[in-house]
Amino acid sequence: MVGGLDGEKHGLSSTVGRKMTGDEDDGRRVGVGVIGCGDVFPRYIQGMRRFSGLHVVRCADIEGSRAERAAKQVGLSVWGSVEELLADPAVDIAVNITPPSVHAAVTMAALDAGKHVYVEKPLAATLPDAAEVLARAEATGRRLGVAPDTFLGSACQTARSAIDQGLIGRPVGVTAFLTHNRAESWHPDPTFLFKPGGGPVLDMGPYYLSWLVTCLGPVMEVTGATTIGSRRRQVTTPGRLVDTIDVEVATHASAVLRFGSGAVGTAMMSFDVWDAHLPSIEIYGTQGTLSLPDPSGFDGDVLLKRWDSEGWRLLAPVTPPDGPDEQRLRGRGVADLAASLSTSVQRATGALAYHVLEVLTAIETSSRERRVVVIESTCDRPEPV
Ligand SMILES: NC(=O)c1ccc[n+]([C@@H]2O[C@H](COP(=O)([O-])OP(=O)(O)OC[C@H]3O[C@@H](n4cnc5c(N)ncnc54)[C@H](O)[C@@H]3O)[C@@H](O)[C@H]2O)c1
Repeated sequence: MVGGLDGEKHGLSSTVGRKMTGDEDDGRRVGVGVIGCGDVFPRYIQGMRRFSGLHVVRCADIEGSRAERAAKQVGLSVWGSVEELLADPAVDIAVNITPPSVHAAVTMAALDAGKHVYVEKPLAATLPDAAEVLARAEATGRRLGVAPDTFLGSACQTARSAIDQGLIGRPVGVTAFLTHNRAESWHPDPTFLFKPGGGPVLDMGPYYLSWLVTCLGPVMEVTGATTIGSRRRQVTTPGRLVDTIDVEVATHASAVLRFGSGAVGTAMMSFDVWDAHLPSIEIYGTQGTLSLPDPSGFDGDVLLKRWDSEGWRLLAPVTPPDGPDEQRLRGRGVADLAASLSTSVQRATGALAYHVLEVLTAIETSSRERRVVVIESTCDRPEPV
């Protein structure tokens, strides 16, 4: 279906983190089609429009009326069905922002249609489905990019650089605390967050684990214990689409992570904490401590306390921060995938996302089977930005 408006604006290149003007944009822009027109959709559109190498062509939703409403809201001129989007030769990259339960099926349909795919986290609702997606990307020769992309931002890059420079010596331990604000108070229909593929571990855990793997490398062993705080959640969002949700996944988890480097981590991931005084991420080394901000954003203070210094020092960002209004926007990972089509350097990869998913699903396995789970996959640390 074709409408009337087109609100494209361009400010940044598809080369992640490099500011450009529109005049510097010399090559053909990469065409993007967005599948899934729900809560996060406007933040993807706004976020992708910052990258001059990306051209959002159209959107689609399983519910046609949602696609039409969302397209009109953001000034997109073309919307329609998923089939129409996948048949459109102007779409090079399909951005899959459907709920986790259909991530794998939608991603594989797009790969089969010859599209490169960027999919929201988690890569799939189960590890076997994720393995099938990776195999399909390999078989079709298409590229796969996977959220989250916040580890590409200035805060994680600054922390990683500090570690690589040896500012805290050898990393020994890490703590990560995810005490999430309650989605049932702000999401119009947070049902998927309490069903398989959701929960704090698979929904928010990928942010934390992607940062930890970027800073410390892959994980080799996991021990975990999980529980459910409330079997039923009351949705209080103004204008909500549902009133209550039956919870089917763990909403509180504690885990011990043993990294291949030898560092040991303690992680808590919860949708059951009303309030806390906990840090987001701290990394403890033989020479000092690094404190990192909330990994669901791109920027924030990275603080260093060396054993021989009096106080904490704020580290200068090693890449330019985006700014406070852009912390919740998405699209940097799509630009990473688009850039990789010509440079072959890609950071938010399927291999990283698969490893992260294996680690996160191991927490539930460990809890259920009361054992240490050995992680079979590994991945390289993504290249510094
Ligand atoms: N909402 C957020 O703040 C947020 C932030 C970051 C990432 N995400 C991730 O983005 C994804 C979507 O989240 P959301 O909050 O926008 O969800 P949502 O439920 O609000 O929207 C999902 C949309 O996908 C559509 N859909 C469902 N099945 C489909 C199919 N088979 N084909 C096409 N469309 C289909 C639904 O009709 C709906 O419009 C999730 O993976 C989530 O983890 C969400």
